[in-house]
Amino acid sequence: MTENPLDTNSTPPVLTDSFGRFHDYLRISLTERCNLRCVYCMPPEGVELKPRSAMLTFEEIERLARFFVSRGVRKIRLTGGEPLVRKDAVSLVESLGAIPGVETLAITTNGLLLKDRLPRLREAGLTHINISLDTLREDRFRTITRRGGLRVVLDAIDASLNLGYEGTKVNCVTLRGQNDDEILDFARMSIDRPLSIRFIEYMPFAGNGWDESVMIPYQEMLDTVMAEWPGMVPVPAPPTAVSTDYRIPGAAGTVGFISSMTDKFCSGCNRIRLNADGSLRTCLFGKDGVSLRDAIRDGATDEDLDALIGPAVRSKKAAHDGMTAIALQPNRPMILIGG
Ligand code: 5AD
Ligand code: SF4
Repeated sequence: MTENPLDTNSTPPVLTDSFGRFHDYLRISLTERCNLRCVYCMPPEGVELKPRSAMLTFEEIERLARFFVSRGVRKIRLTGGEPLVRKDAVSLVESLGAIPGVETLAITTNGLLLKDRLPRLREAGLTHINISLDTLREDRFRTITRRGGLRVVLDAIDASLNLGYEGTKVNCVTLRGQNDDEILDFARMSIDRPLSIRFIEYMPFAGNGWDESVMIPYQEMLDTVMAEWPGMVPVPAPPTAVSTDYRIPGAAGTVGFISSMTDKFCSGCNRIRLNADGSLRTCLFGKDGVSLRDAIRDGATDEDLDALIGPAVRSKKAAHDGMTAIALQPNRPMILIGG
């Protein structure tokens, strides 16, 4: 758990919850739109997009980011939908990168629009890149994303490494019967290049057809990789890490597992989320919270925001429910939350 350096008498510990978890990591969804249609993220019929006027503007995102940083946030990640489909995404990175106190500025992207934007993003102070990729085969890429573009994504991964983004993360959601025979191919990508390959357990969200039989437990994925490289060793990680990482002997990169379903990592959670429409979410599997968009459009001061956000953070549960319960709960589709 992270200590809040601002927990003094003069600063209300607005980002500390009732279990003492301090939230210094803010994930901001820039848009609900995406140029892919991944089967595990979007319902087949698509999602109803809210009008542009419902989305946070550039200035509103900047204002809220500054507010959160003033309350102790040190890491910001931009998500979506696909964050780079938003026209002002690069300018936003420039603006957020200039906020004093932001130590880590990251993006999670599907990589389709990344390559050309990389030099400017780097210049703007983007520190970390996560690229989603679930298959290395063109035909499967079409099936899983319901679109094309595998080559473009692979080029974006290379371009990130070439620009010096060591530890570029590749997020792979594993689906039994669809890409589980590629686990070793993905793991192998970590040998020659400093990539962090991360296998993610398939999570249930509204309309994504989740079924436990399709989810591959992390232990099973670990066994598969261990059988190929028995000398693989764990890599130490901070308590807030969501991924359990290993290194294949002699490899430049790492192989990790994100076990949100079979082994919850909620006790170290330091993340809060801002949806693209400005609602606050304290847990990926929680309910939408208060609308910070409405608050600031009504002229809320920073102290008014404290009064709204404090109770929301303090009401965060110790841990999310088990996967079967989650699968039965109403939630947003993942595309409308943003990882
Ligand atoms: N289960 C697990 N991960 C998911 N993502 C999207 N939907 C799911 C799901 N149902 C991941 C994507 C991407 C990030 C935005 O969230 O792979 O890396
Ligand atoms: Fe788009 Fe990412 Fe969802 Fe795929 S997982 S549809 S790339 S937001």
